[in-house]
Formats: sequence, C-alpha cells, structure tokens
Amino acid sequence: MNDLAGKHIVLGLTGGIACYKAAELCRALIKEGASVQVVMTAAAEQFITPVTLQALSGRTVYSSQWDAREPSNMPHIKLSREADAILIAPCSADFMAKLLHGRADELLSLMCLARPIAQVALLLAPAMNREMWAHPATQRNVAQLMADGTTVFDVGSGDQACGETGDGRMLEPSELLEDVIAFFQPKSLLGQHVLVTAGPTYEAIDPVRGITNLSSGKMGFAIARAAREAGAEVTLVAGPVSLATPRGVARVDVISAQDMLQAVQDKAATATVFIATAAVADWRPAHAADHKIKKDGSGATPSLNFVENPDILATLAQSARGQSRALYCVGFAAESHDLLANAKAKRARKGVPLLVGNIGPATFGQDDNALLLIDESGAKELARASKLVLARKLIVEIAIRIKAGVRA
Ligand code: C5P
Repeated sequence: MNDLAGKHIVLGLTGGIACYKAAELCRALIKEGASVQVVMTAAAEQFITPVTLQALSGRTVYSSQWDAREPSNMPHIKLSREADAILIAPCSADFMAKLLHGRADELLSLMCLARPIAQVALLLAPAMNREMWAHPATQRNVAQLMADGTTVFDVGSGDQACGETGDGRMLEPSELLEDVIAFFQPKSLLGQHVLVTAGPTYEAIDPVRGITNLSSGKMGFAIARAAREAGAEVTLVAGPVSLATPRGVARVDVISAQDMLQAVQDKAATATVFIATAAVADWRPAHAADHKIKKDGSGATPSLNFVENPDILATLAQSARGQSRALYCVGFAAESHDLLANAKAKRARKGVPLLVGNIGPATFGQDDNALLLIDESGAKELARASKLVLARKLIVEIAIRIKAGVRA
C-alpha cells in the first residue's frame, strides 16, 4: 500500500529512550510512500545519532536554527512550510510544556510555532515515565494542546525502560503508522457509531467439533478500520478469526450465530450504521452433544439434526424500522454465480437499503476483492482492489447515502 504517497512529513525527535523506535517509524513512513525530513533536538541526539536517521530518511538531518544550509538561513520557515504534518515522536513531557507556551528557543519548537497552523498539522506521540504522564501538569498540557488543534496520539501501556510499569510508553511504530494514515483520511463518518460483524461463526456439534466456513474476516476488519479512519466510533463483533484489531476499534469476540446476535443487540441501541459482513452459519446442530461423539467401531454414523440460525441482519433492520430508529443497514452477499440477480433479491429479502455483492470463492481469504453495490437506484461496481481500498470506498458510499437521509 502507498497510503502516504505524496505526503511530506517532518519527523521531530525529542529527548527520550523511545528515540530508538523513531528509526523504525521513519522507515515505515517512507515505505508507505511519504517523504520524511528528520529534525532532532539536542536531547534526542543523546539517544540516537543523526547518522542513523539520515541513512533511513535519505536526507540530512536538521537540528539547529542557525543551520546555514538554507540560503535564507531560516530553516524553521522553509522546513515547516513544505510539510503536510510535523510528527513529533517521541514527544517528551518537557517538549509538550514548551509547545504549550509557544516557546521557540531551538529549531523544532521554532518550526512548530512558525508553521501555518491551518495547513500543517501537528501530531504528537508522547513518551515518558508513567508518573510524568499521569502528572496533572502533563495532563493539563495535553488537554490544552488538543484544544489548540494539536493531535495527541495515545500512549502505550506496559514495561518502561526505567523499570516501572504503566502508561506513558510511546506507541509502537506500526501503531503510529496506522494513526498517521488515519489522520489523513477524510472524516466522512464523524459522529456516527458503526457496528460491524465479521468473520465466520462456529456452530458446535460436540465439545471438539463444529461447523464453520472459509470466511477470513478480512473484509469486515478492513471496513471497521476504514470506518474508524473516517471518524466514526466503531464496534466490531468478530467470529473466530485470528486477525489484529484495527486501532481505535472496540472488538467483541463471539463464536456462534446466537452469540453474535446477542452481542450485536447489546450494542445496537447506540449504533447509527450496521454493516453485516459476517458469514453467519445458516443452520446449527439442534443439540450440541455434551461429550465428544465417539466411533463405536460398528461403522454407524451419527445423524445430525439442524435448526435455522437467527438472521442477524434482517432482525436488526426490522427492529430499527419497528422503532423508527435511524440505523443504516448494509448487507453482504457472497455468491458463486449470478451476482446481480442474487444480490438484488437478497436486498429485498433482508429489507436493507444497501446490499454489497461479492463472489465468495474469489475473495474468501484473499487480500483483494471486487464489490457490486445494490441500492434503490441500481447497481454500482467497485473494481478489484485491496480490501482496505474497497472498504474506504464503501464507507464513502455509505456516508453519501446517510447524508442524503436514506435510512433502513
Ligand atoms: O442469507 P445470507 O447468508 O446469504 O445473507 C448474507 C447477509 O446477511 C450478510 O450481510 C450476513 O452478514 C447477513 N446474515 C446475518 N445473519 C444470518 C445470515 C446472514 O446477519 N443468519
């Protein structure tokens, strides 16, 4: 992916042991398509050398406001104006205090103050000891910086270099990368609460066997990530899959269709959008055996009786309509043939405004997909692309329809 293609980022390092993670972050930003100009404070140079960051970024590192390489001798003006964002990682407690007061006695803080505030975002990745992070002065500074329009990313929790355990670690480079990518996505779902189901369900036959399907959950997880990037609060109800939870998404793990319905109903009251990507088992064994069903050597096979599972999507769409509640419901159809006709029929049967068709065998477990969107005005194709790219496009399509006032 090239999610940061065309973006120019000033990566600022301030004094903290997390400087070692900034090297990996620099590399990750560049791999994602960004160009990176590193600026370091004198304290940061105590932890990592400019040589490392120069090699990784492919640009000489700046650390002094008196750097004579700029013909104008004003690096704070030039470097801050050409950036899409200044990302300070790690950002120390002391540096946040400086930013708060608009101090500008070295290059990095000078650049933050001199940047055109409406065009160049300021993103901070705090990193410090847990007591320093919890201190009222730091928390006050964070609140004020956010009120001033600065984006302050979360801190991680766990073992700290000082030997203590708690909140204040800098996020991992992969987490910061996801947050930076999300920052640049359009915020088309601000104020919405999106509930997503994903993955297969597993219907027990006995304690060691069950019925499931080949759904990987990747499409639903990508949709949850895209909805979060678009500014929504997101709850992801996931069947048994081993995928990483997208950043900032609340995840509820379930096993069976009945568990999934329960989890969805628990969260539905505050949801404004419901996207059902899960491949829910249509049937479950009428009775799951308490003990493992044994072969008895006679060649006799067990016979299974099935009952139909609840239709989660249809249930939610119907109850929202019954309560005249604004819940925009989106269904998925994984078909093996006749996608258009089957998806149209499914849209009517489920009673949802938008039905997204895909060819199941061509997408299960894959990283890419192609989608066919069916709504009241017809069909629209989203051509084959990665699931995350398609998820972002689908979120935009949903946002357009919500804005136009279409409801379940
Ligand atoms: O009926 P079918 O399984 O083909 O419908 C697919 C759509 O309905 C998907 O959006 C799926 O998540 C949803 N569904 C559901 N509960 C079921 C079966 C399907 O929510 N029991």
